Amino acid sequence: MESASVIRESEYRTLGGSGIRVSPLGAGTNRWAQGSNDEAVFETFRSLVDAGVNFFDTAEIYNMGRSERLLGACLQQYQRPVIIASKFMPSPWRLSSGQFMNALNASLNRLGIRTIDLYFIHFPYTMLSVETLMDFMAQAVKTGKVRSVGVSNFNAEQMRRAATQLARHGIPLAANEVRYNLLHRQPETDGVLEACRELNVALVAYRPLEGGRLMRDITPTASSGSSSMGGQEETGSKEEVLQKALKVIAQQRRKSLSQVALNWLLRRDEHVIPIPGTTDARHALENIGSLGWELSDDEFAAIDRASSP
Ligand SMILES: NC(=O)c1ccc[n+]([C@@H]2O[C@H](COP(=O)([O-])OP(=O)(O)OC[C@H]3O[C@@H](n4cnc5c(N)ncnc54)[C@H](OP(=O)(O)O)[C@@H]3O)[C@@H](O)[C@H]2O)c1
Repeated sequence: MESASVIRESEYRTLGGSGIRVSPLGAGTNRWAQGSNDEAVFETFRSLVDAGVNFFDTAEIYNMGRSERLLGACLQQYQRPVIIASKFMPSPWRLSSGQFMNALNASLNRLGIRTIDLYFIHFPYTMLSVETLMDFMAQAVKTGKVRSVGVSNFNAEQMRRAATQLARHGIPLAANEVRYNLLHRQPETDGVLEACRELNVALVAYRPLEGGRLMRDITPTASSGSSSMGGQEETGSKEEVLQKALKVIAQQRRKSLSQVALNWLLRRDEHVIPIPGTTDARHALENIGSLGWELSDDEFAAIDRASSP
């Protein structure tokens, strides 16, 4: 397997109409500060920024604020200019702009920064309308505490409403963060990827490795091929077919499964920015090795076929 080199700035992608440039691969932090992994996280952070990753995704709810706090400690220790994304959780009892601003201020405090580069609404499930949430966001942008606005887990219609309301304030919708990987290609069929293209919104792909499942060795079960297991068995066989295709290409290219899987997502559309989560510096460097090369048309098509629902 080839090792990672430093990411070229020409490879960076843009967070929609915000103009903010980020490395084509970001870093997810939802397992940062879990248990006692702080030292491993510091090492992971350093490896990532040294290799040119400048985009870090956290949320107030990740480990009850500890992910933000640890990311803030990394920023403090290494003093590197990076783009920070965090998220507001619209819990049922959080209905006022005051509560929104309190949550934002608390995130800023934990991160130890004055401005969050990209602030997401974490989920659309709330009594508040999309329009009201975007008005809160616009207010936050006006105070200078938020640089660009994103939504997460929004469907295409909710995205469009968010973009329309933000436009009334002269603010572009920068990103929609949704689950997207070779085992979960819904954004391609539910209209989200299409809306991202049309509105020029980044599709920040979370769980791009399906939580590590894409790289787990799959041993076919004795019951493979029988019809008694129904849907469960179908999922297993689909994964086997996909992993086989990934393995063939990985071997030919001298890449790892994660590198091939991430390269496929990156090639799928220029709006896609995967954010693999890791607490291991070796995995971080391995994932960066998905950059600087491109699957051929035939390789891309073979993976497409193997992973198609
Ligand atoms: N907006 C949302 O609602 C939402 C929801 C879920 C996640 N997210 C964000 O998306 C990020 C990524 O999602 P995720 O972390 O759940 O899933 P993921 O990135 O698909 O997978 C992470 C898992 O894969 C392992 N891994 C990573 N690189 C590897 C490699 N090269 N080889 C072997 N294993 C590897 C990690 O373990 P190691 O730590 O050992 O590397 C971890 O167990 C999160 O961190 C979070 O920031 C957002």
